[in-house]
Amino acid sequence: MKPEQERLEKAKRNAALEAVKHVKTNFVVGLGSGSTAAYAIEEIGNKIKREGLRVLGVPTSHQAFTLAVEHEIPITTFEKHHQIDLTIDGADQIDDELNLIKGMGGALTREKIVASVSKSLVIVAEESKKVKILGQNNHPLPIEVLPFAAPILMHKISGIGGKPVLREGTKKVGPVITDNGNFIIDASFGSIPQPAELELKLKGITGVVETGLFIEMADVVYLGKPDSTERIERKK
Ligand code: A5P
Repeated sequence: MKPEQERLEKAKRNAALEAVKHVKTNFVVGLGSGSTAAYAIEEIGNKIKREGLRVLGVPTSHQAFTLAVEHEIPITTFEKHHQIDLTIDGADQIDDELNLIKGMGGALTREKIVASVSKSLVIVAEESKKVKILGQNNHPLPIEVLPFAAPILMHKISGIGGKPVLREGTKKVGPVITDNGNFIIDASFGSIPQPAELELKLKGITGVVETGLFIEMADVVYLGKPDSTERIERKK
């Protein structure tokens, strides 16, 4: 691994290790998706083996599910548990109010459902994910959509000022299919100073399944650096 990549992985791991300190025995834990949350899943598995930690996990994606199985974290479902004690998940951008853009890994809908029933949402990310305003640097907003409606939604998203791109597979021809059988539109809106307004507009369009805007959901963010971690709490 190149030294720069090594520093990045260390930063992600540092954030994840801090977040896992929130996990207590008998917790139902939401297991996030992406490369940073993967370190948290691994550490929860280590604590189960090393310390006899007893938890049940709710995976937010197929990736999180397979990691949970690999690290021997017992799984539960919404049939058994309607509430989650704590979810640890990654993010693509984090603003000053701890609003988030999520979904570059395509798992935003399940992530948001799990977050919405979590008593506490702890976000883990390396420090470059922190921005002043969401959408900064033209970062796209992932939007999960029903395939049938996708062409109409591309048009409607343009109509409200977005630049939509249908997410294409890299080792598959054609669009990416989410764990829910849907498509993803990555839409650039430029800076998003009023994310709640945009969320309302997008959720008002029939055919939009979910957006990657997580507004006032994160309670704590751990921003990992190669040699330390910064903790930020949301002001309530
Ligand atoms: C998955 O859909 C996302 O929401 C991820 O949590 C997000 O993309 C962060 O991923 P990394 O930790 O790999 O950057």
